[in-house]
Amino acid sequence: MFLKRSRKRWLKMVKVGILGQGIYLPSKKLTNFDLEKIVETSDEWIRTRTGIKERRIAAVHEKTSDMASKAALQALKNAKISSEKIDLIVVATVTPDSSFPSVACKVQKAIGAKKAAAFDVSAACSGYLYALTTAKQYIQTGLAKRALVIAADRFSSLIDWKDRDTCVLFGDGAGACVLGPVKSGGITADFLQAFGDQGDLMQVIAEGARGPFNLGKVTAKLPYVVMNGQGLFKVAVNSMADAIEKVLKKAKIKKEDIDCIVPHQANDRIISAVAKKLNVPKEKIFINIDKYGNMSAASIAVALYEAQKSKKIKKGDNVVLVVFGAGLVSAANVIKW
Ligand code: ACO
Repeated sequence: MFLKRSRKRWLKMVKVGILGQGIYLPSKKLTNFDLEKIVETSDEWIRTRTGIKERRIAAVHEKTSDMASKAALQALKNAKISSEKIDLIVVATVTPDSSFPSVACKVQKAIGAKKAAAFDVSAACSGYLYALTTAKQYIQTGLAKRALVIAADRFSSLIDWKDRDTCVLFGDGAGACVLGPVKSGGITADFLQAFGDQGDLMQVIAEGARGPFNLGKVTAKLPYVVMNGQGLFKVAVNSMADAIEKVLKKAKIKKEDIDCIVPHQANDRIISAVAKKLNVPKEKIFINIDKYGNMSAASIAVALYEAQKSKKIKKGDNVVLVVFGAGLVSAANVIKW
């Protein structure tokens, strides 16, 4: 009993917050007008149904680990911390360069973080908050002191570019932060949940698989995303609104105390519906989907960076992060900035 209570006190004592952020976005822009030349769609349809105007696409040679490493270096620079001081790297991605080595290990090599443990987290668009919450626990329990948390996805490599239902929605990018002990504020509440029974709403399927008994019979179509857009839309609105309610309860604050909500950027209409459901003014919500589309895990990392940079978030603010993604998984955090 005593042990339980003192552990609780210890966990409360160690405050963990963001010490610096960084992003990387490929230079190549793919506009809605460019997409009109690839599939039967229109700028008007994409803008009014999703809010997206353009997205970034990684160059052929540009891998997820390249984008992750560049975002990580910027985060270290902004945190004024050298890579040798990092003892944990957690990368959220569903588009690793390959099954192994992990993207986290590749980042470790690229940035020279010799003392760091490194692993990847797979939670699709919810990955950044799953990674953030995981790294926070490592620091709170004393297993790490400073962690690099990175979200990087090269989602264009999972898209069937002949499928207009999906190809207009996604883009590539990376965002990162250095997480460490802070004197006040920091991440004050976490909420994670999963609905594995609804995983069919969005999946990556592969037509044909390699094996000793089907040599020569494997089809050429690479793994690609299929989704039920309308089904996801409903789950997204309900799960994000629910995650916000639950995380506010954990943080012991009210809706009125929120200064800024940074949500996953999947669709501007989803964000509006969440704001309406919670009765939160849309002006309190940071949106940058018009420039980047849905970059999977990287969306919220890039949005949080830009929210800080544009001074939409200021010191002392209550910031709510909220995501949903394939799996299905959703998550939320409250940060006292
Ligand atoms: N251009 C033009 N027309 C299109 C396009 C397109 N790119 N895509 C679909 N259409 C057509 C459809 O064929 C349909 O035509 P029909 O009426 O003749 O049958 C019509 O537009 C309407 O289609 P809906 O699916 O009803 O369109 P909706 O308003 O639901 O918008 C959308 C579709 C944008 C996909 C929306 O449902 C959505 O955003 N859902 C959530 C998707 C999402 O968030 N996915 C990622 C989540 S997980 C993660 O982030 C990894």
